[in-house]
Amino acid sequence: MTIAKAPFNYIGNKYRIISDIQSFFPQSVDTMVDLFCGGCDVTINTPAKRIYANDINFFVIGICKEFQDHSTDEILDYIDVMIERWHLSKDNKAGYEDFRRYYNETRKPLDLYILMCYSFNYQFRFNTAHEYNNPFGKNRSCFNDTMRRNLVEFKKRIDNVTFSSQDFTEFDFSVLHEGDFVYADPPYLISCGSYNDGKRGFKGWTQQDDERLFVLLDTLSERGIFFALSNVLEHKGRRNEKLAEWAAENQYTVHAINFSYDNCNYHANNKRNVTKEILITNY
Ligand SMILES: C[S@@+](CC[C@H](N)C(=O)[O-])C[C@H]1O[C@@H](n2cnc3c(N)ncnc32)[C@H](O)[C@@H]1O
Repeated sequence: MTIAKAPFNYIGNKYRIISDIQSFFPQSVDTMVDLFCGGCDVTINTPAKRIYANDINFFVIGICKEFQDHSTDEILDYIDVMIERWHLSKDNKAGYEDFRRYYNETRKPLDLYILMCYSFNYQFRFNTAHEYNNPFGKNRSCFNDTMRRNLVEFKKRIDNVTFSSQDFTEFDFSVLHEGDFVYADPPYLISCGSYNDGKRGFKGWTQQDDERLFVLLDTLSERGIFFALSNVLEHKGRRNEKLAEWAAENQYTVHAINFSYDNCNYHANNKRNVTKEILITNY
């Protein structure tokens, strides 16, 4: 399976380290759950018969479901029509802002996708009223040929995916059996502050969330389900002690992922501060 890029630029996406992570995934997977799927870069690059992709971010899941419900031609035609109708381009700020206002009134997922393509850094950013408020991506962002190609490939890879949008504890784990696989890529407690700044329209990730996740993964492990948890053990002089203790107490395996993670936070690119990114597995 060649590696494909999802047609988003999702904060914290695993595209650049997908091979490193997958070298530690089980050899053959029947059913997989990508529990915090985000922009789905792991979802579309993991060979499995059935995949469940979940994320609390219902905006991105809404777009993925729309992609599933329509043919590639229908989606591309719709995008092209809207780009023309709203005169969207790399330098039409007013057009972008008009379209953003329109989206915030009408809230169609495909419009959000198009809007995101013309926004600063291709980001999903919302205020507390869940209005999209990312600024214009002047001279940089547009629905370019690469995005188009990525979207076409993405469509081919989501046939066997069931999308859902709920808190990770509410996912229906009864669909899983012994030998199935859960990949968990939650927000990291000690880094990636942008998940905790409220600008994404969701509440931040806390110590309690980490602990809820540990309990869940232990329960799955007792059922003979394999899991892999991405996380950060050390970041900017901070260490997630509870994470280290939990892994040690349960004799889970901690794999070092060789990557200096600099795209989750613009200010994290300080060479003096090491970021230890890891993958914890129960196999
Ligand atoms: C590090 S990102 C996942 C990135 C993803 N693996 C990718 O490659 O794009 C973490 C994700 O966890 C989601 N999230 C945060 N809290 C959640 C919760 N309580 N339940 C489910 N998903 C949650 C966020 O919306 C975000 O998409």
